[in-house]
Amino acid sequence: MTATLIFGSIDTQSIATASYIVAALLFILSLAGLSRHESARQGVAFGIAGMAIALAATIALATEDAATVAVVLLVVAVAIGAAIGLWRARVVEMTGMPELIALLHSFVGLAAVLVGWNGYFAVENGDHHDLVGSLLDIHHAEVFIGVFIGAVTFTGSIVAYLKLSARIKSAPLMLPAKNWLNLGALVAFVVLTVIFVISPSLPLLIAVTVLALALGWHLVASIGGGDMPVVVSMLNSYSGWAAAASGFLLGNDLLIVTGALVGSSGAYLSYIMCQAMNRSFISVIAGGFGIEAAAAADTDHGEHREIDAAAAAELLTEASSVIITPGYGMAVAQAQYPVAELTRQLRDRGIEVRFGVHPVAGRLPGHMNVLLAEAKVPYDIVLEMDEINDDFADTDVVLVIGANDTVNPAATEDPGSPIAGMPVLRVWEASNVIVFKRSMASGYAGVQNPLFFRDNTQMLFGDAKAKVDEIVGALVAERVPA
Ligand code: TAP
Repeated sequence: MTATLIFGSIDTQSIATASYIVAALLFILSLAGLSRHESARQGVAFGIAGMAIALAATIALATEDAATVAVVLLVVAVAIGAAIGLWRARVVEMTGMPELIALLHSFVGLAAVLVGWNGYFAVENGDHHDLVGSLLDIHHAEVFIGVFIGAVTFTGSIVAYLKLSARIKSAPLMLPAKNWLNLGALVAFVVLTVIFVISPSLPLLIAVTVLALALGWHLVASIGGGDMPVVVSMLNSYSGWAAAASGFLLGNDLLIVTGALVGSSGAYLSYIMCQAMNRSFISVIAGGFGIEAAAAADTDHGEHREIDAAAAAELLTEASSVIITPGYGMAVAQAQYPVAELTRQLRDRGIEVRFGVHPVAGRLPGHMNVLLAEAKVPYDIVLEMDEINDDFADTDVVLVIGANDTVNPAATEDPGSPIAGMPVLRVWEASNVIVFKRSMASGYAGVQNPLFFRDNTQMLFGDAKAKVDEIVGALVAERVPA
């Protein structure tokens, strides 16, 4: 009797509501934890706990309300999703994370579209007798807005995935009057929403779905390679709003709270990244509004000089201060471990070694910090661009390890460059710069780098891991008495 009272239908609902509040708090703690290296692991643990509680509460609610077949379907879907998620998370390379994230955002978008369509058919089939008058109007507006945001997120994320995984070119698509196309699509959406609320119909729902799919595709296709980091976090934000819209439709408070958390934190991250890259936030979220494709400059920069690992080791032992600026190439080569060893070797010799990390170095926010932490480089010598940029002029040797766009002086010196105005690490101000890369090829933004041709720059060609290993080898050999 008591058990029935406690676990009866009303109580399951209240327990689920309480669980949702706990889960929402855990998600907030998770976001707070993830904002600092030291607490990131704890942040992930909070997130996992929150999601486990949310899932358990949702399954408990479904068990009570739905038919057995629905519960079985739910559990099977969760099991399949969890298995695929575990497998992907285990095999994904750090360098492949942005495209995986983009793909995951596309699922959120697709789910929001399906929830929206389901919300429409639920009314058509007479499942929502309780919705009358303005409540029904609100429901129809939620359906329409949810489908729109979801469909934009879906195709936008697919294009981001294709660009990031180099399956399509990362150059911006420049359709004539592209800004008017985007603006026209938004106006059409507003007009269609009003008509749909007044007189809902399937053709209108199909029309907004097609419109939003096309808009999502065009928005992201119009954004060039250099701005892709912002696009990934912007899609993260869109996927949050899509989830929140689904939450309204499903009457699920946790989905609304979680969606709003993801939506607002993604928007804030996009804003911070735009500031770091000196890009206009509005321009990027509006699909590169006002950004025109820059003509590729064919400037002759002269000759570059080369250095080998032995000479680089010698230069380093003579230095008293060294700054290492890592980039995407360090991640590709998995050179963080020898780089950490090199750091130890140099510090043992009393040489000051610090790291300068650009906010968009690599392929996702915090990419370099994660790799360096993984290789146990002390946090206190890993500095942000703004903290270290004024110190290059007093530095003996800078090692640019697999970085390119983030150390390109054209950003500050060439107003016609596609990356003009983006703040960069001013490595060229140091007495000596050694650039580790395999060739003279350009970086992600596809822009030539005049740094490579400066008098104080020497190129160390080859795989970054192999070359750093060689330098470490030379330093160790020098210390071992003959
Ligand atoms: P990039 O400009 O992409 O340059 C990386 C360099 O690493 C390349 O020039 C490449 O030259 C070299 N490299 C590749 N594999 C290597 C290996 N095994 N050994 C040695 N060198 C290797 O990287 P960055 O300076 O880190 O700049 C990041 C770029 O990515 C920016 O344009 C940024 O906007 C964009 N992006 C960033 C993000 C985020 S959020 N961080 C997301 C998407 C895009 P070689 O081919 O000659 O070796």
